[in-house]
Amino acid sequence: MKITIETHSPAETIALGERIGALLRGGEVIAYRGGLGAGKTTITRGISVGLGLGDEVTSPTFALVNEYAGEKLTLYHFDMYRITSAEDLETCGFYDFMNERSVIAAEWSENIADELPDDAIYIDIARVSDEVREITITGDERFEALGD
Ligand SMILES: Nc1ncnc2c1ncn2[C@@H]1O[C@H](COP(=O)(O)OP(=O)(O)O)[C@@H](O)[C@H]1O
Ligand SMILES: [Mg+2]
Repeated sequence: MKITIETHSPAETIALGERIGALLRGGEVIAYRGGLGAGKTTITRGISVGLGLGDEVTSPTFALVNEYAGEKLTLYHFDMYRITSAEDLETCGFYDFMNERSVIAAEWSENIADELPDDAIYIDIARVSDEVREITITGDERFEALGD
């Protein structure tokens, strides 16, 4: 299923992320597509809040992966900008972190398109104007609830 939602501020994008986060159970890979400044890190902040992991999410650009650990689930927030091969992906821990107690959220997933699991949840973010984003979520039936 696929659903498109327009947000009109960073706060609205965070609120949407929060609703997405609340639908996650662990074991998911979230694959972002959308260029620099689209809002990938911003929506991840909301997802972290929705998972009960707080809003202290910053860009993983320098660390490659930031980890936000909770009692039940851990969020691994990746930046795949400089990941260009399956070997790089293995080295950065992508496969090690993938399990039922983790949520992986990957910025620049375009770079690892062939390595993503079949059930990856895609979040495409298009910049409509300075403050407006068109956000399309492709995933299972759970995410239909976001349309309500
Ligand atoms: N509706 C919106 N949703 C998300 N970010 C927005 C929105 N409107 C403006 N912005 C701004 O766009 C930028 C998005 O940055 P960021 O989330 O770091 O993007 P990315 O991780 O995709 O590079 C921030 O400066 C944010 O304030
Ligand atoms: Mg970012």
